[in-house]
Amino acid sequence: MADLLSNWSSTLEAVPPSHCIPVHERPSDPVEIVDNIPVIDLGKANGEERSVVVKELLKAFEEYGFFQIINHGVPVDLMDEAMKVYKEFFSLPAEEKAEYAKDAANNTNRGAATLYSSSAKHYDSEEHRYWRDVLEHSCNLDGKDKITWPSNPPRYREVIGAYGDELRRVSKVILGMVAEGLGLEAGFFDNELGQRMLVNHYPACPDPSLTLGVGGHCDPNLITIIQQEVYGLQILKDDKWIGVQPIRNAFVVNSGLPITVISNGKLASVAHRVVTNTTQSRTSIGTFICPHEIVEPAKALVGPENPPQFKSFNWGIDFMPHYLSKKSVYHASLEPFKIDA
Ligand code: OGA
Ligand code: NI
Repeated sequence: MADLLSNWSSTLEAVPPSHCIPVHERPSDPVEIVDNIPVIDLGKANGEERSVVVKELLKAFEEYGFFQIINHGVPVDLMDEAMKVYKEFFSLPAEEKAEYAKDAANNTNRGAATLYSSSAKHYDSEEHRYWRDVLEHSCNLDGKDKITWPSNPPRYREVIGAYGDELRRVSKVILGMVAEGLGLEAGFFDNELGQRMLVNHYPACPDPSLTLGVGGHCDPNLITIIQQEVYGLQILKDDKWIGVQPIRNAFVVNSGLPITVISNGKLASVAHRVVTNTTQSRTSIGTFICPHEIVEPAKALVGPENPPQFKSFNWGIDFMPHYLSKKSVYHASLEPFKIDA
């Protein structure tokens, strides 16, 4: 069973060898924290300026694979409450958390809540570990999975249930704009898509130069919506890491590898990583929207002039096991699905 970092990191005066990552992966070069990552005003999504906002959003996904959203309509109180709930969850006594951490590596019920440190699948075989604990569970529309969610803090299911509903709504607004911007039929992403909570907790770290909260990766899902308050997220832009300055009450949105496939290579899926800091723990609340079962270049985007760049594949059966089976380097997990020109 994973030894949760949140149970013991506060007693550490140095980073233990288990968590010192290889020198080439360490965040050694100075990284600029920028404020030029696009900010999209979702309040304009239904007004006269919609087409302008759609263009901005598409450009952000093309150039950065990331943007932040403001005026998204999620009540600030609910965002604050969700953040509080997760901070309380990760500071629960070890025995309370142990129940969820019991069988994370072998969990075949991808819906049920699991708790792990560093990575679920590779924890026992990892040569080094990342500086994070993760709580993950599905967040289904019908609410039937709530029974598997944590029951402590006692308001967990109520708060996160409401949060999940709001984030489902926001994800639909974003995906509606992606469809429109790509020239796909309205409703392309409308059928119910899988939704998961993936919440990272990165405790304060005695020496952030020796480790990472999570190493560089591209996300395997369609889009990810992150709530954060403490700096730590960095993205790889033009082969350089840049830091994402948190904006109060905004969400960070990024595209995952399936978006690159569906857009037939037009939209980026950008590598990102998380650095730690010495003074504060960082909790990021991730809402992961998963694609439909079959992922392939959208039919409307391929033709004699635009041959498909990727094969059609089953996301859960073909792609996810491949993505999880090795520590995929950035876009490498798409390689087997590429069609050579
Ligand atoms: C992730 C991730 C970023 C963050 O969980 O895939 O990239 O800010 N998280 O914690
Ligand atoms: Ni990620």
